[in-house]
Amino acid sequence: MQRANPLQPAAEGSRFVRACLRQPVDRTPVWFLRQAGRYMPEYMAVRKHHSLLDICRTPEVASEVTITAAERLGVDAAIIFADLLLPFTPMGLDFEFLAGEGPVVNVPIRSAEQVVALRTDRIDELSYVARSIEKVVAHFSRPRPDGDQLGIIGFCGAPFTLASYMIEGGSSRNYIETKKLMYGDTKAWPLLMEKLVTVLVGYAAQQVEAGADVIQVFDSWAGALSVSDYRQYCLAPTTELVQRIQALGVPVIYFGVDTASLLPTMRETGADVLGLDWRIPLDVGWKSIGHTRAVQGNLDPITLFAPEAVLKARVLEVLHTAEKRPGHIFNLGHGIVPGTPVENVIQVVQWVKEYGKI
Ligand code: CP3
Repeated sequence: MQRANPLQPAAEGSRFVRACLRQPVDRTPVWFLRQAGRYMPEYMAVRKHHSLLDICRTPEVASEVTITAAERLGVDAAIIFADLLLPFTPMGLDFEFLAGEGPVVNVPIRSAEQVVALRTDRIDELSYVARSIEKVVAHFSRPRPDGDQLGIIGFCGAPFTLASYMIEGGSSRNYIETKKLMYGDTKAWPLLMEKLVTVLVGYAAQQVEAGADVIQVFDSWAGALSVSDYRQYCLAPTTELVQRIQALGVPVIYFGVDTASLLPTMRETGADVLGLDWRIPLDVGWKSIGHTRAVQGNLDPITLFAPEAVLKARVLEVLHTAEKRPGHIFNLGHGIVPGTPVENVIQVVQWVKEYGKI
């Protein structure tokens, strides 16, 4: 189901979307990175019968996982269940998820010829994600009992973070192969960035068309870059991605980890909202970006394992440092990890609802 006017998403009725646009809200909206994941028994029950990729590629199941997590936690936004690496398949790059190891690309990109061979003309093959979004939108089409419309978040990776998986072949510590190609091949790197932007804009457009209110761009590993390298090799393609998604009529949340020093440069992409990790105090991060942008964050996800009094103090600290300015979305500084007590996550939502009133 499509929104009545795709250029005017659920802003009016959704405190989450309103906060992305720095419009006034009745209270701070809240959702969590990786809110549907292995810490949640309902997700593990589904995972027993389906692989991660099966879930992503089956709209009935992906939408159910998305909806269940959002309703169980009582959050203000639902992020579609998918994965950063899904666009690799139509680009011609095979990958799998190995238990305990995370994603593995079978033949990593190491040469200019491989970059040239990457395809950008099969984005339609990703339409199962749009079908999942349509189901989630249909489910949440009515306002909730408090009158608020739940926000629907679509997402994609940023060019650098996706390139790092393509080139390293999986997770990495030092990004040596990625940086070798970035520094050393002045033709292949820009071509790779350009191809990724083409695919990601098309993919995001499908998600917006299906009813996503906001797109989050994950640059999870941007923190591996110096400010100079980010500026020289990544800022232009990332800016193009962000601005072309905004031109579809939705706000963009741009998120990375370990980005304290990069924030002022990441701001130059023009993103409406910047994600903050927990290493920078929220007020310091917000000041370095400027209060003309919204921020999302930034509780340490491991605080969810702390005793109640410690957890509550940290939640209140995040709310306090945001000073009830327009444009704060409560979240973690990175994703919920397996083993996190679900009841603590729910408790945080309740505290934000109680103490985040404006
Ligand atoms: O509610 C949600 O956020 C779930 C939807 C979601 C998944 N992946 C499903 C998933 C989202 C938003 C992602 C994004 C994603 N995928 C990122 C960016 C977010 C971040 O954390 O910075 C990244 C880097 C990936 C790539 C990826 N996928 C990795 C590194 C892993 C392994 C992680 C691990 O802890 O093992 C995955 C697997 C994955 N994607 C899981 C989930 C729920 C866990 C594995 C499983 O269920 O088998």
